[in-house]
Amino acid sequence: MKHVISADQYSKKDILEILNLAKKMETILNNGKVCELSKGKILATFFYEPSTRTRLSFETAMLRLGGQVISVSDVKNSSVKKGETIEDTAKIASGYADIIALRSPEAGYAQRAADVSAVPILNAGDGAGEHPSQSFLDLYTIAKHFDLEKDELVVSMVGELICGRTVHSLSKMLRNFPQIKQNFVAPAEIQMPDKYFFAEKGDQKFYELNDEVLTTSDIIYDTRIQKERLSPEVYEKHKNAFHFDCEKVNKMKKNALLMHPLPRVNEISPEVDALPQAKYFEQAKNGVPTRMALIAYALGLEV
Ligand code: NCD
Repeated sequence: MKHVISADQYSKKDILEILNLAKKMETILNNGKVCELSKGKILATFFYEPSTRTRLSFETAMLRLGGQVISVSDVKNSSVKKGETIEDTAKIASGYADIIALRSPEAGYAQRAADVSAVPILNAGDGAGEHPSQSFLDLYTIAKHFDLEKDELVVSMVGELICGRTVHSLSKMLRNFPQIKQNFVAPAEIQMPDKYFFAEKGDQKFYELNDEVLTTSDIIYDTRIQKERLSPEVYEKHKNAFHFDCEKVNKMKKNALLMHPLPRVNEISPEVDALPQAKYFEQAKNGVPTRMALIAYALGLEV
């Protein structure tokens, strides 16, 4: 049984294996044939925070694999509202389902569920902690455009980095590819926490989105300023800290990628969507084959 909790679990070999599995899943999807790899298996999704892409793509992934889905998306209608612990919820759900995807408003819940669950737990985002399945789809997207193992890429993470679970997991996963340099671009108050920053590995901090970042990055990974995780004062101060319009994106390299886990609020103008660098919708679509791969990996399915 393999839980998917943190980017820390994965070596370069594991990551490449999962990306390769995602590629096979994409071929299965493109063939349009009915797939029965997960026939008879049930995925339970517990989302105690809002989600569109992550929940729908996990559920689509299980359905495309021939499995079935049961779902709790509204905490008001579950026993957590009555005070049930995540441990009890996970124990019960692991008696009903073969695999569980869990999103929680606090860090550490996925691990707590994994500690007691009889079936694999997939961390679908735990508060300001991690979001490993997002990182796999991010890497899958990057690998479609660059050679992850050889290209000397500069990845600039931009926006709200202090609580951003997407960038926390992505930063850790990218450490497996030492030729890739990381820049963190955010005002000091919402910069990347120190535990993710390694000057000796070439990391750099920037406090504004300047031309150096725009013109030298191969990947700009933009993120939302997360109102729900910041104090009202900090949010108000930085809510419009960065804004990508066509003028800025046109300064990027022609083959650079502008990525974003979405939802975007006002970080990227809709006009940018038509530019060749805009890859966020492609990235969201990659969630399905990648999550099919993660379900197959966690369940130990023969593909
Ligand atoms: C992200 C998340 O929930 O952490 N969204 C996602 O899963 N695609 C980012 C965000 O909400 O800003």
